[in-house]
Amino acid sequence: MADPHVAANPTISKTDLLAAKNQEALLGGGAQRMEAQHKKGKLTARERLDLLLDAGSFEEIGKFVMHRATDFGLHKEHYLGDGVVTGYGTIAGRLVYVFSQDFTVFGGSLSETHAEKIVKIMDLALQNGAPVIGLNDSGGARIQEGVVSLGGYADIFYKNTLASGVVPQLSAIMGPCAGGAVYSPAITDFILMVEHTSYMFVTGPSVVKTVTHEEVTSEELGGASTHSAKSGVTHFTAANEVVCIQQLKQLLSYLPQNCEETASSLPYALGQDESRPALDTLIPDNANQPYDMREVVEGIVDAGSFMEVHAAFAENIVVGFARLGGRSIGIVGNQPAVLAGVLDINASTKAARFVRFCDSFNIPLLVLEDVPGFLPGTDQEWRGIITNGAKLLYAFCEATVPRITVITRKAYGGAYDVMNSKHIGADLNYAWPSAEIAVMGAKGAAEIIFKREIAQAEDPAAKLQEKVDDYQQKFATPYRAAHRGFVDEVIMPAQTRQKLIRAFKMLENKVATLPRKKHGNIPL
Ligand code: HXC
Repeated sequence: MADPHVAANPTISKTDLLAAKNQEALLGGGAQRMEAQHKKGKLTARERLDLLLDAGSFEEIGKFVMHRATDFGLHKEHYLGDGVVTGYGTIAGRLVYVFSQDFTVFGGSLSETHAEKIVKIMDLALQNGAPVIGLNDSGGARIQEGVVSLGGYADIFYKNTLASGVVPQLSAIMGPCAGGAVYSPAITDFILMVEHTSYMFVTGPSVVKTVTHEEVTSEELGGASTHSAKSGVTHFTAANEVVCIQQLKQLLSYLPQNCEETASSLPYALGQDESRPALDTLIPDNANQPYDMREVVEGIVDAGSFMEVHAAFAENIVVGFARLGGRSIGIVGNQPAVLAGVLDINASTKAARFVRFCDSFNIPLLVLEDVPGFLPGTDQEWRGIITNGAKLLYAFCEATVPRITVITRKAYGGAYDVMNSKHIGADLNYAWPSAEIAVMGAKGAAEIIFKREIAQAEDPAAKLQEKVDDYQQKFATPYRAAHRGFVDEVIMPAQTRQKLIRAFKMLENKVATLPRKKHGNIPL
């Protein structure tokens, strides 16, 4: 195919030809389509990269790549870059590899060459140990290319999987992402979606209507609120693209470059007064009264450093990143304010995935425990609370990063074991004086073990109360566990921050290895 610039001006100089091509590449699918993108409240692929990367740091790779398809008139329709801008740059001085799909070119759809460009930067990221950030805005497989496009997707999925646990992979969804366009993000570590302009679905509303006769809008089927609250597919949502990009940068700040490194720490002077007296009055006297575990988190970590992950999904467990004495940590906390902090299927899978991420990338784990047990009932049993609860158990068991638990109140039953108990490898366990470590709550326990005695008593209610009080006194404390060494120290809540800063510092050179294996078989 003749170069259009040469065809238009056969005497064009070599430098002018280069300048013309560079200019053409910046135009993507053309000014009109860019305007349409803006009208939808969306930025273009290059505008997004400008916001994401340090000014002037972007180096593009594959700017002049063109597709090789010829069917359906494609031999006459070429755009330099083929619908994706790829390359590398820095964020706060740190190297990152990026791709940004250009919806103005064939709807950001994935062709063979588009896929090759993404795979190329993923290979570089793997070889050089730096994160990959994908800005996704794609109608899925380029329909005109058929199986070649499907092959391109599979190449990306394969690389995503090889890179998993080696370098952090972050996916921002900034437009409609259909078909294959959702599975690469799903394999990556974190997904961020923009409210009202981004969608993710395997099949769109029209296919849904044909197959299942359901009438559903794109927003209901796969919008940001659906995937943050219902499916849990997305970890973060943002009101607009600018906020989404800020979230990407903040998220990256807690992460290391790769699995061989630790996240960089902010400066912190040891020896300051770190007591937090407000924590001493945070737990209600009544053990059945809720409180917000986020307040405990805020009371412990460096001011303003908590970034919650999956905030709207499985709210009975709170997970997220924070800094403690400048150090990046991952936090998992039961949330007594929602369903009493019980562990159910969604809470278990949410926390398990987070624990595995932190362990993959050497981020120490802090567990804040107040859990009455696993959620009973047919719904949970039939949907597999056994398998799903086991995911969290497995994730903690195999984690080799520094791990500390603070039991703030209830640590009942199997959930005591699961929530980073010493028995499954936690390095240090603290308990507050309000901790109750037992097989179950006192009333339930008394009703079972003293059933006959209570039934035969003159005053069954009084007898029950007597037995509840007895059980409460014996077991609803942290001291039985402390006598056994299952709890290392019972501490005042106000001391927690100080203790944890010192403890994580003490654990910073921890080396723990797992038995040699190909890979474990986590119950999926
Ligand atoms: C080629 C595509 C395209 C595609 C959109 N375009 N999707 N071109 N292949 N997959 C083009 C359109 O022709 C149009 O070109 C431009 O992109 C913008 O599309 P519009 O439809 O005008 O935009 P909009 O109304 O915003 O709708 C966006 C959309 C819709 C929701 C993404 O285009 C759509 O539903 N596309 C098809 C989605 C899909 O079914 N993809 C295949 C999935 S199968 P012009 O020239 O007008 O600008 C798949 C298999 C992989 O991905 C499986 C791996 C596991």
